[in-house]
Formats: sequence, structure tokens, C-alpha cells
Amino acid sequence: LERHWRSRGAEVVAVQGLGFVGAAVAPAIAASRRADGSPRYLVLGLDLPSGPGPERIAAINRGSAPIGSSDPELDRLTAQAVLEAGNLAATHLEMALGLADYIVVDIPLDVADRTRTRPGQVEVDQAGMVAGIRTVGRNMKPEALVLVETTLPLGACREMIRPVLEEEFAARGLAGGPKLAYAAERVMPGPDYVESIRSFWRCYAGTDPASAEMAEEFLSSFIDTERFPLRRLGSPAAAEMGKLLENSYRAMNIAFIQEWTLLAERAGVNLFEVVEGIRQRRGTHDNMRLPGFGVGGYCLTKDGLLAQWAADRYYGGGLDMDLTLKALEVNYHMPLHTLELTRELAGGELAGKTITLCGVSYLPGVPDTRNSPSELFLDRLEGEGAKVLVCDPLVGRWQEKPGVRVHGQAKECIRRSDGVVLAVPHRQYLELTVAELAPRPGRQPFVVDAQNMVDDQKAEDLRRAGCRLAGVGKGHWRGRGYQWPAA
Ligand SMILES: NC(=O)c1ccc[n+]([C@@H]2O[C@H](COP(=O)([O-])OP(=O)(O)OC[C@H]3O[C@@H](n4cnc5c(N)ncnc54)[C@H](O)[C@@H]3O)[C@@H](O)[C@H]2O)c1
Repeated sequence: LERHWRSRGAEVVAVQGLGFVGAAVAPAIAASRRADGSPRYLVLGLDLPSGPGPERIAAINRGSAPIGSSDPELDRLTAQAVLEAGNLAATHLEMALGLADYIVVDIPLDVADRTRTRPGQVEVDQAGMVAGIRTVGRNMKPEALVLVETTLPLGACREMIRPVLEEEFAARGLAGGPKLAYAAERVMPGPDYVESIRSFWRCYAGTDPASAEMAEEFLSSFIDTERFPLRRLGSPAAAEMGKLLENSYRAMNIAFIQEWTLLAERAGVNLFEVVEGIRQRRGTHDNMRLPGFGVGGYCLTKDGLLAQWAADRYYGGGLDMDLTLKALEVNYHMPLHTLELTRELAGGELAGKTITLCGVSYLPGVPDTRNSPSELFLDRLEGEGAKVLVCDPLVGRWQEKPGVRVHGQAKECIRRSDGVVLAVPHRQYLELTVAELAPRPGRQPFVVDAQNMVDDQKAEDLRRAGCRLAGVGKGHWRGRGYQWPAA
């Protein structure tokens, strides 16, 4: 395969790690074309022969995306590259790294425990990353570029990645170190998955000018840099910091709204209309977050912790990133507020009640359940003795809770329940009618809206149908007495 593509003038790219990021990055790079329309690269995707690796490798080699997505472009591009152009293949053989001119690193680096949020307590699991980078150093061509996209604690390119590559080069008798650059991937799962790679701004930095030049040229070959120019930062630490700060800013913005949510509910205020009004101040306030159920996913739940770990480990310690860490704590516990509302509507006692939980992924339209706020919510709900019917139209198997049955259809579950909690605004749940949500023979039905999924008209109709209601941030419902049985 390599000889075939080299003879046609193509270069070789290896993408290490075929998860939510790598499985989309690989076909996006494979879609890059030269002026004559021919593929610019042969792309070799690399994953491990254990864990999710074999399934992901097999899926790509069949021409289908190994990651479920609401973006049809992901499947189309994968099929096109594997089955039509023939310039994308996946393997677990590390020798593929030795063929590459560019090695894109998309393997994970995680914290050991997201609930350990105090300075000095944060632990990062370095073993997997170090092992992966060691494989790269052992196999790569000396002149290839290693482009790390994985979210890293700032300082990690210098302190963790480069030393390992240099050790492996020394063991091979190679002088100096490899070309190394950092460009955090900003891919956003959802309907614009692929476009969030190709049509989005990126920051990057090299460990030396030659690496930065090579990274710029490479990134420009598959990103629409005319519309979304690249930004070169002064050091890899700056580029690493950019990703951590960007996600911590978002996490903070979400956490900040939580205490205003509680105030709004006490004060009988509809916080959604308040925030919409504030958002009209474009440029400074238009990004203000809305009340909600909680925060999940792989990144927003940990990236602030990586910053604290870097401060402790690489930059002398004694710097407590209190606000950043507090935001993560608040976000982690956020679903417990919806639990309070559920308990209240259940009459103060959840034991013996049947509750339908609508949504376990951490975003609408996405099947990813990593660190889903539904997990803590379900644990506590069941801990208080409720029977929970768990639903999600996109999640066939809840990876983190393999013992839990996930129903694809919510309607029948709701019919059998005392209450329903609308946790994730999947389209299917927004379309639930009053008749589907309200009547439960012999019970006093209730609906908890944790994500602004029920508008005021529907709420009124639900009340008329005999439903009790509460909503996160919907103080005006409380002001109208919706939490009590309808007269
Ligand atoms: N998920 C997102 O939305 C997102 C967005 C932007 C950035 N990121 C960052 O990208 C990185 C990867 O995230 P992800 O969501 O793709 O993770 P993931 O867990 O979905 O996938 C990682 C893959 O890497 C494989 N892997 C691990 N070690 C390997 C090795 N030595 N060689 C080959 N393959 C190996 C794993 O088997 C797995 O399939 C993380 O740092 C994450 O923070 C994630």
C-alpha cells in the first residue's frame, strides 16, 4: 500500500489512537487532495490490539466510522477513503509508524480520579501516554514530524513527550531529537463533527522553528486555513495552555450559572429569559451559559485538573487554581439539584417510586456517555430506593454502566412511571407530546425538566392534564405553584 501511494507522489500519515478524535481526524486528513485531485496522503490509523482497538480497526477497514455520530459526513468520508480512494487503512501494527512522514498523536491522557479536585491531590495517568510515545520513538523515521493533538498538561511536551522520544532515539543510536509540535484538537462531537476539524481555527507551536514550519504546512493541507487561519504560538506550553484555558473558561461559565439557578428558583424568576436578555450584549455577554442538568464528556470534566497538575508538577507548586477547580466540583455535583427537584415532586420520598430518566449521553444528538451527569443522578436516585427506567435513543449500551438496560423508546417507560426526568435534549424528547408525558393511570404524574425542554405553553398543557412540574432555572413555574398537585 505504501509503495503504491508513494509512487503516486503521496506522503504517509499515521494517526495514533482511533477514538472520538482520531477516528474523525484520520478520514479528514485522507480527504485532502492535491491540485490534480489525487489524494495527498496515505493515512494509516493505528490503535491497540486490546480494549476498543480491534473493533475500531475492523470498522475502519470495513469503511465505516467506529464512532457513532449524528454527522453523516463522518461515515461518508470514511467509506470514501477506505472503499473508493483506498488511501485509509487501520492496523494495530506499530511498524506503520515507521512508514510515516507525519505522526498525529490522538491517544488519551486522563486524570486518575475526577473527584479529586484539591491542589496536590490531582493525579494524571501517564503510563498509557508514555508507552504510546515510546512506540512512536522506537519506530518513527528520524526526519518525521510528531504532531501531538492530545490535550496535555502544560509543560508536557517538554517534560513528558520529548524526553521519551529522545531516550528512544538515543537507544537507536540517533543523534538529537525528533521534530515535535503541538496543536490541540478542537473537534466537537455533534452534527458538525468533521467540519469542526477542517473548518475551524487552530493554534499550534513547535519545539523548534523547523518543527513549527512543518506543522504549519501539514495542518494547512487539510484545514481550510484561508477561512480559518492558523495561529502560531510562542511555545508548546502556550499551545497546551490554550486548550486547558479554553475548556476551563467554558466549565467556569457553566458552573457560575448554577448558583444563579438556585437564586432564580427561589425568587420565582425564569432564568432563561434573564440570560437571553443579557446575551443581547454582544461581544461581552453573548456566550453566557444557561441552567442545565450537568456537565459530562471527556474534556470539560478534566482539563482544569490537568492545569493544576502541571502547576504542582512542572511549575513549582504552591499555586492553587481555586476557581478553576471549584467550577469542576460544582459541575460534577450539578445533577444533584435535579435530584432534589425530583424528590420534591415525588412527595419528599423517592423510595418505591418509578422514574423514567430520559437521556444518558452527555450531549444531545451524541452517543458518547463518558462522565455523563446521568451516571451520578442514576446512582443517587437508585440509592434512595427509586426504580429507574433508563432511556436514550442513541445509546444502545451504556459503556460505563454495562448492567443498566437502556431503552431506545421512552414512551412505554413513561407510561409505567410516576415521574419523568428530561435530562438530555435529544430531538426525540423534545417531540414528546403532552399526552405521552402526562397520563399515568392511578398515579400523580410529574415531569422534571432539567434542560429547558418544555416551553411554557406545553407546561401549561401538562398542568391541565394533571401533571406536577419543576424545571432547572424555571423559577416562574415554581412561582405559579406547578410543583404542587393541580387543582
Ligand atoms: N472526545 C472529544 O470530544 C475530544 C475533543 C478534543 C480533544 N480531545 C482529546 O483528544 C484525546 C483523545 O480523546 P478521544 O476522545 O479520542 O479518546 P478515546 O478514548 O475515544 O480514544 C483513544 C484511542 O486511543 C487508543 N490508544 C491508546 N493508547 C494507544 C497506543 N499506544 N497506540 C495506539 N492507540 C492507542 C485507544 O485504544 C482508543 O481507541 C484526549 O486527550 C482528549 O482530551 C477529545
